[in-house]
Parts: sequence; structure tokens; C-alpha cells
Amino acid sequence: MADIESVLREQRVFDPPAEAAGRARVGSMEEYERLRRRAQEDRDGFWAEIASELHWHEPFERVLEWNAPDAKWFVGGKTNIAYNCIDRHLSGARRDKPAIEWVGEPGDRRTLTYAELYAEVAKFSNALESLGIERGDRVAIYMPMVPEAAIAMLACARIGATHSVVFGGFSAEALADRIRDAGAKAVITADGGFRAGKVVPLKQNVDQAVAKAPVDHVVVLRRCENDIAWTAGRDSWWHELTGGASADHEAPALDSEHPLYILYTSGTTGKPKGILHTTGGYMVGTYYTTKLVFDMQDDDVYWCTADVGWVTGHSYVVYGPLANGATTLMYEGAPTYPEPDRLWKIVEDYKVSIFYTAPTAIRALHRAGDEWPKRRDLSSLRLLGTVGEPINPEAWMWYRETIGGGRCPIVDTWWQTETGAIMISPLPGATPTKPGSCTKPLPGIQADVVDRQGNSVGTDEGGYLVVREPWPSMLRTVYGDHERFEKTYFSEIPGFYFAGDSARRDADGYFWVMGRVDDVINISGHRLSTMEVESALVSHDKVVEAAVVGRPDEIKGQAIVGFVTPKKGLEPDEELARELMQHVVVQIGALARPAEIRFAEALPKTRSGKIMRRLLKDVAAGADSKGDTTTLEDGSVLDRLAAERGYEE
Ligand code: WTA
Repeated sequence: MADIESVLREQRVFDPPAEAAGRARVGSMEEYERLRRRAQEDRDGFWAEIASELHWHEPFERVLEWNAPDAKWFVGGKTNIAYNCIDRHLSGARRDKPAIEWVGEPGDRRTLTYAELYAEVAKFSNALESLGIERGDRVAIYMPMVPEAAIAMLACARIGATHSVVFGGFSAEALADRIRDAGAKAVITADGGFRAGKVVPLKQNVDQAVAKAPVDHVVVLRRCENDIAWTAGRDSWWHELTGGASADHEAPALDSEHPLYILYTSGTTGKPKGILHTTGGYMVGTYYTTKLVFDMQDDDVYWCTADVGWVTGHSYVVYGPLANGATTLMYEGAPTYPEPDRLWKIVEDYKVSIFYTAPTAIRALHRAGDEWPKRRDLSSLRLLGTVGEPINPEAWMWYRETIGGGRCPIVDTWWQTETGAIMISPLPGATPTKPGSCTKPLPGIQADVVDRQGNSVGTDEGGYLVVREPWPSMLRTVYGDHERFEKTYFSEIPGFYFAGDSARRDADGYFWVMGRVDDVINISGHRLSTMEVESALVSHDKVVEAAVVGRPDEIKGQAIVGFVTPKKGLEPDEELARELMQHVVVQIGALARPAEIRFAEALPKTRSGKIMRRLLKDVAAGADSKGDTTTLEDGSVLDRLAAERGYEE
């Protein structure tokens, strides 16, 4: 393996392997430049050409209507994304090609060809309609990673119901909030899912959630054969609903701007935002980026390890790959179950050629030891991808050498729930890569690094990552709160989309994303707001005040540290720390469990009463507070906090 010190010192650049360049759609930087210029000079023409590769029930009249910050793409066009992901492939050789390859955690398997996927989606579309679900209704999906999760999404999309997938790791409380905010009419779930050898009690969580946020229907897939409670009239079994349903369903023509899905993500405040994506633009964006960034070919076996509960699962497990007629692999369980070679065994078994995962997984699998990947034949791999957080050069090099055998290009893809699709990324056959950089914006994407006034900053200067021009898969609003949409994304730096990340650009024009500039923390590539965790902590009756910060973590990227002021008279101890950690799990989900709780009589505040999180960050990281403390109300608080011992997970 290349010596990491020398890679960093020499700022090594890795050229795309000749083989990748030879077969790629974009095989050189000259070609990339040509595309980029074309998109810049004729934005509408560029996107119209890509859109025309897809099926439109009725053609669009105009490509874009832009009244900043409101965009309408492919105006007047009528289409159906499920039709484009399935029906479009039924007439040719793809009909009998696997659309979904699925592996359950206990080892069960299933293959669905495009023809079989069509039948399943048609049946479930008919089933939903038989329940009275109509165009425009919202439907929550709270499922394990099974084919039915994708089938449920595609069926909703097909009939024009707006889906809201909630990650199965979220708690009943978090699910209830999301059902309520979206006004969902139905929840689709399973009796459970398998994770690290255990059953995740999904239906039980749904029962608790809908007790608080009622829905008309709960559809339950039988997956684990475990005992569940049943509410007659409200609950129906998936297999009973679809048993008698027709395996044909005509995809209706939906407006290009028809709301496709809502996906909740964390922002600065405690309340998650329902990011809304619409049909036509999102379809074009995910189709285009999958084709270009993964250079998807008909013989590829493509595997993105994300859960469908996150945007990566929406865009790059379901919609993007299927719109391209690809074979997409889904795996239900934990990456290291029963042993740390589980993922590599799947790569071997299915001859996976494209593998896309998050830095946190790469670091964890690296730490598990090289013997695990070495036991498996990974020679089918031709391309590797990463997403979700900055990747450290050590992890990048291990990924390249040990997993990719030194022959696979790595695409480090920067994007967000809000952007809907990849924005900045190498093209595998063209872009020379540098470990840790997501390189250059895709053709059609006008990303920049600017100062507060919106002026581009100089080479290697830090600034705010923005997008200067609209793009098809951009979010359209925050569901039910258009003002928050405007304020969060289009007011910070007037005229531009504000991503909330800081970045710099080097002399070659390569982007280096540094991290969030807001109160969002990134735990294992999952977005959480510090305020969300704070709200959870203060909702506990033994807590007076809480402040939450992230501290660097070798595997997860960041870990949560909660500073807590307990009620007067309470003697804080390890037991209380555990109780509070568990409380956060109940309020939000296991992904938000603090790694450490530190008790404090008081938190450092400015004279105007604001908690100084910046100082707490230093304390949490064990660093001396170098920041400006002149506005601190009581300096001794900080010393006491630093001396205080924390309770670790
Ligand atoms: C971070 C995930 C560095 C970033 C698709 C962004 C990244 C947030 C990268 C969005 C990357 C994502 N390099 N940072 N390649 N990809 N991020 O909405 O901070 O879950 O703002 O979308 O993840 O997270 P989200």
C-alpha cells in the first residue's frame, strides 16, 4: 500500500486508469470541459437534451421558469417517474434483466427482473388505490431494506401519492412528528426488519406513532414472522391487499412539478425540515448523474449501501439506477454481520462492479482488518464511490488500494438531501483525483466558493459553498413552510443557493469541502441538528438545560457530546447519564445517542444569555479554548467544565 505520508506530502494525483477512460462516456478532461461549456452557454438546451432521453407522456413547453428562489422545470411536461424506471425498459432486452438483486440479513435472497418489478409495483399501486389513496395524498414509508421498500416508493410515485420515507432507525416519536408534519394518510411498514441478528420492531413503533398522529391505513409486510398487535379496520397485510390485485397498472401522466416525495432532514433548529422534491426535474437529475458519475453500463452490477431512509437511498438505490435500466443491489442488514466480510462476500457473490458507500463504513471496515477483504474475490469491482461526509486521505487510500486493488477510480460525490442529486464529483473516465477532494462540479452545475457578499474567494481561501444557478433536481420548498425554505437557502447569500457547507478551491479548481457552517452535525454520514438533540435532552424531567456539540471521532466522523445541567439537588452520576442517553434514543432514534454526557452546574453563556457552543466544542474535543472568551459572562464556568469528567457511552 502506498505510503500515506508521501501521498499527502507530494499531493499525489491519481489519473483515471486507461481502461476506465477507454470505455467511459466522458473519457477526458477535454470532453468534460466541452460539456461544461455547452451547459454554461446554453443551459436550457443542455438539460432539454438530457430530458429527451426519458419518456414524457406530453412534452414540456419550456425548460425552466426561474423566479428566484422558485424554480419550475420542464414546464407543461407530463411524465411518470415509475414509468421511466420500469415500463420504459420492458420492450427490449432489459425486460428479463435483474432490476433488483436483494440479500436479506439472515441470508435469504431475491431477484426481481424488470418485468417482475413491473408486476409487483402494478399490484401495489392497485392496492393503494383500493384503499382510497389518491394523487396528492401523503404516504409514510417505514420499512426495512427489502424490495418492498422500493416497490412501495415506486407505487406511490406511480399513482402520484407523495411518499415520505422515514428511516427505520428513527424512534416512534420521530416517526409521529414526521407523519403529523406531512399529514400522511397511510403508513407502509413491516412486522420488523433484521439488523445485526435482531428484529427491529417496526410495526410496534408505528402503533405508538399513530396513536399520537393518526392515519387511516397501516399496511404491513410480513418479514420476520414476529408477534405484532393488530388494529382491525386500520391495518392490512401487504400480501392480502396485493393477493387479488391486478398485475397491470397504467401509469398516469403527472405534471412535471407534481410533488414526488418529502424527505425530512436536519437543519439549524430542532424541527426537521420536510424537503420537497418534484417529479420531472428530480427524474432528470438522478438519471443524468447516475449515468455520468457511475458511467452506468448495461452489464454493471451496481450496489449503493445506503438505506432508502436517506436521500442517497432515494436517488442512488432506487430512482437513478432504475431510470438507467441498471441492476441495483439492496442489502437488508448490518455491514459487519455476522462477520466483517459481509459486504465483501456480497461483492464476490454478485460480481458487483460499482460500489458506493460512506466514509464512516470505509473507516470501520478498514479498522476491522485487511484479512476480511483479502478473503474475498473483489476483482469484479471497476468503480468505487463515497458520499455523506469528507473522506480522510487515509481511508481514501485504503479504499483505493485494498478494496479497489489500485485499479478502480474513486468518485467522491458531494451533494445533499436538498440538491436531490450529485453536484460535485469526479467523472470516472476523465477526472484525475486527489484523496479528499470531490474535484469539480458536474457539467450544468455552477458551484462556487464565496464570501458573505457572494464574491468568489481566492485560491485556497475558505468560504461558503454555493450554487449560482438553478438545477433540475433542486428542492422546491420545505413542506408547509415556504418561508423557511427562502430564509435557509436563498437569503444567507442573496441570489445563490446556500448549502451550509464551507469549502475551499485549490489552484486546479478542485473543491475541498470542510464541513458544516451551521449547527448541523454529521454522525456516520447522517445529518442531525444539535438543537434536535438538545430538545430531546431538555424534554427529560431531570434536565434544566442542555447544549450539544460534535467532537471529532475516528470512525463516525463526529460524535455527540451533551452538556447537561441537571435539576437542583440531583447528584449526577453514570446512571443518570445512561438514562439521558436512552431518553435521546427514545425521542429520536439510536443514531442520535450521545457518545458522552458531561454534567455542569452552569453552561458558558454570553452576557446576553446565549450558550457559547464554540467554547463547548473545544472542551468536548479536549482542546484548550483558544477562541475569544471576552463576551463570556462567567469565565470560571469554563474551567470547571473542562475539569468535570464525562460519562462515555
Ligand atoms: C456532507 C447526503 C464532504 C455535507 C448526500 C453536506 C459531504 C451534507 C459529502 C449533506 C462529500 C455530503 N464530501 N461532505 N462528498 N457529501 N457531505 O443531506 O456537509 O444527508 O452538506 O445528503 O453531508 O447530507 P445529506
